[in-house]
Amino acid sequence: MDARVRALFDEVKDGLTGSPRSLPPKLFYDARGARLFEEITRLPEYYPTRTEIGILERCLGEVGELVGPGARLVEFGSGSGEKTWKLLDALERPATCVPIDISAEQLFAFADRIRAAHPEMEVIPLAADYTRPFRLPPSIREEGTTLFFFPGSTVGNFEPEEAREFLANMGQAGGPDCALLLGADRVKEREVLERAYDDAAGVTAAFNRNALRNLNGLLGGDFDPEGFEHRAPWVPEASRIEMRLVSRREQVATLAPDLPDTEPFRIRLAEGEAIVTEHSYKFTDERIDALCRAAGWRIVRSWTDERDWFGVHYLVRG
Ligand code: AVI
Repeated sequence: MDARVRALFDEVKDGLTGSPRSLPPKLFYDARGARLFEEITRLPEYYPTRTEIGILERCLGEVGELVGPGARLVEFGSGSGEKTWKLLDALERPATCVPIDISAEQLFAFADRIRAAHPEMEVIPLAADYTRPFRLPPSIREEGTTLFFFPGSTVGNFEPEEAREFLANMGQAGGPDCALLLGADRVKEREVLERAYDDAAGVTAAFNRNALRNLNGLLGGDFDPEGFEHRAPWVPEASRIEMRLVSRREQVATLAPDLPDTEPFRIRLAEGEAIVTEHSYKFTDERIDALCRAAGWRIVRSWTDERDWFGVHYLVRG
């Protein structure tokens, strides 16, 4: 029996029978979903990626000085390619780079590219689910600061308590002298936010429906992705965008994983019933500050863009 299929089946069943019904956002990211997300980052409406890159271009000189020579860079998701290259270029003689990703295939390809571009650096890829407590691999060069890099406002896809735990785990793994460069999207006008998550070309809608397509493949399901409407309202009282799939009609779907002692799971959805697929939290200064403090980090320096749409923060422990 595949324990991972069993765990996913249980997680999906729990989510779909909950109130509101939900699916884990990790279902977005199969190969097709990863390509769709890449496309999203280039959409005119999706401002976070290009805004953050603009900020990084202006602040990385200062970051390089704050970090100092011989750093060990730890970066998550290994999909932040362009941003990682820029950061590596800004660091003085980085000693080690530890890319961490759950998907080993993508991770090792990324590690090879880093090695080719920075042959002088030790590259130690770590295939791990970084949302759980993790240990950094021992490095032969323990000279400089350990710098964690978590860009893209991915921190906003965690629930607040999960985000706190994740940032705290990071601090635990990095020891007392580590630092963190964190990208976090800011609260702004509803129209700007909602357009970013419901673009005119329908790429985000396809990305959202892809969660069902992927689920069908992983758990032998028969969800009809086109039977769902994409919705992404800004919910100000929770300070988040809620990505939802809304059933266009009354429908029944089945998940029937090929597992021993397991009944297929059937779900009946009424017309207009919603499944939440993702939360994307947006932060005020107070909120990001409180989150980081609760996780044992202190903001030393923050940078934003001229519209104040996105924040990049440099943090240390304490
Ligand atoms: C990966 N993450 C930061 C994106 C976000 O903006 O929350 C995921 C995304 N969902 C819809 N569009 C982009």
